Amino acid sequence: MEHVSPRAIEQRDGVRAYLAGQERKSLLRFLTCGSVDDGKSTLIGRLLFDARLIFEDQLAALENDSRRHGTAGDDIDFALLVDGLEAEREQGITIDVAYRFFATERRKFIVADTPGHEQYTRNMATGASTADLAIVLVDARAGIMRQTRRHTFIASLLGIRHIVLAVNKIDLVDFSKTAFDAIADEYAALTDDLGFETVTALPISARYGDNVSAPSERLGWHEGPSLLQYLETVAIDAPSDERPFRFPVQYVVRPNLDFRGFAGTIASGSVAVGDAVVVAKSGRASTLARIVTRDGDLDSARQGQAVTLVLADEVEVSRGNMLVAPTARPHVADRFAANIVWFGESALVPGRSYFLRTETDEVPAHVSALKARVDINSFARQPAKTLALNEVGVVEIATQAPVAFDPYGENRATGAFVLIDRMTNATVGAGMIAYPLRRADNIHWQGLDVDASARAAIKGQKPAVLWFTGLSGSGKSTIANRLERKLHAAGRHTYILDGDNIRHGLNRDLGFSEADRVENIRRVAETAKLMADAGLIVLVSFISPFRAERAMARTLMGEVAFAEIFVDTPLEDCAARDPKGLYAKARKGEILNFTGIGSPYEAPDAPDIHIRTQESRPDDAITEIERWLAARDVSGQHFGDGGGI
Ligand code: ADX
Repeated sequence: MEHVSPRAIEQRDGVRAYLAGQERKSLLRFLTCGSVDDGKSTLIGRLLFDARLIFEDQLAALENDSRRHGTAGDDIDFALLVDGLEAEREQGITIDVAYRFFATERRKFIVADTPGHEQYTRNMATGASTADLAIVLVDARAGIMRQTRRHTFIASLLGIRHIVLAVNKIDLVDFSKTAFDAIADEYAALTDDLGFETVTALPISARYGDNVSAPSERLGWHEGPSLLQYLETVAIDAPSDERPFRFPVQYVVRPNLDFRGFAGTIASGSVAVGDAVVVAKSGRASTLARIVTRDGDLDSARQGQAVTLVLADEVEVSRGNMLVAPTARPHVADRFAANIVWFGESALVPGRSYFLRTETDEVPAHVSALKARVDINSFARQPAKTLALNEVGVVEIATQAPVAFDPYGENRATGAFVLIDRMTNATVGAGMIAYPLRRADNIHWQGLDVDASARAAIKGQKPAVLWFTGLSGSGKSTIANRLERKLHAAGRHTYILDGDNIRHGLNRDLGFSEADRVENIRRVAETAKLMADAGLIVLVSFISPFRAERAMARTLMGEVAFAEIFVDTPLEDCAARDPKGLYAKARKGEILNFTGIGSPYEAPDAPDIHIRTQESRPDDAITEIERWLAARDVSGQHFGDGGGI
């Protein structure tokens, strides 16, 4: 047996008693927001410093205590304290937001520390997803700014219930009550309709500490509490067990054939051994057999606890799914309405494919409709085509596969998501799900008897999509046209989707803005997919200037052979050829966003076929594509080395 000295035990018990005391204290999660110069860092620094003093006093008392009992502990482990909060910290969707922990005699605090200001909205949106309270800082000299409105509105969207308006730098307006009152009144009017439970204005000077932790004589007219006193006493709801049980599965634990458990953190509600549970997406039911933790099995567990659940039956549950209460299930849908806060460097473009990540799930998704942009001055909804950095919008989302969720208003953990740029992997938006779209429930996939392979077989070929991309005038259509002639002569069933032609019909309503081009490619990719499903060899000849959409097209085709063919002609050559006279017009400023001049072309990094038109003749290019087809068994014997029909 391990030897433990009585002294160590006493010391440990002292720490335990202290920690137990901490456990009993309530926890307030908050974040601070404001413009860069409003004094956010100074305030956090001051709060931590002042609270630390209180905290250390307490610890000193504990140490004295221990000393009297002969167990002077030099080793009090603050990490223990913080570790205890690790599970709580891991809840919710958190991205590059640091959390700081501090405690006073009355309460524990976690403040989302959001460093840097460039990505302010992003940090705020992600840091706020679990916060109870937001401190909105304003400079007493400047009053309420656009940024103040934006952050306040986002705080309301994120479901933050309590707001403290900290009117900072009050020393710089001579501690003026009039200045303070004017700002407080304006803010009260502004927040009237935003649904906060409490909005409290407090004058402070973060720099000199006035009214931060203790009331200040210089603010004699202020009757209310200091900021820290307020934070210590504001009434927040304890996490309730009343809400339905939600357990997003983080991973499946299967160390050996006898054990299969599902690991994760309970997002809401509670569960006990013997309870009936259901797999959200499949509706499969089972009973909870065990609740396993590192410290042994539990009879029951509640919100915030990280556990491994073992079911009585062998049911299929993978990462991204949820175990839930059978009587109150979440929605499972692939279309829903949501509020979204955009923080991508490039604008949100409806139709563009992003990864949508919920607490545990990740699926490709796109914004199927941008319903409105919220005007930050009036909070009114306005029509919009895109959302730029820091803008807030109301959208409809379509996901490639169904996701399980609750409306954000009912459950912040299971109702939140982020959007991730598929090219850069950057998180570009945070969303709050409002409700599932009924359409999703009412439209079902119709099973058909004649399938893609049957249609292709009768044509004696395999379908394929040849996707030509390149600048206008690069020679895409010329090569595609010649290739189709050859394929056709060889008895292949083909079709060319050409940008200029499709823009006369199906895509007549689209122009050349980024959003319209994205939609242009989305539609043509869907069309190509249908044609491949019909058994055709499809040649797509569109500029398709953006990597994201070309990647989307590839994914969309699934099993169908897909070649990205880069028709690489330098801009100068295209402009010199100028078959339609468009470059001349663009250079005169008559076409504003012409590709290569006023609008970017993102060249493929790794095309399947790279045609350098300066170095080769069209026939060489065609031979190369034929080889590619033959190697995939698409075009058979007519092209020499391939097998097939
Ligand atoms: S894409 O960028 O959305 O893929 P698409 O291939 O459909 O473009 O259409 C490109 C054709 O439209 C060009 O070949 C050219 O004839 C014509 N066009 C007219 N205006 C523009 C523009 N601003 N940029 C590029 N092409 C344009």
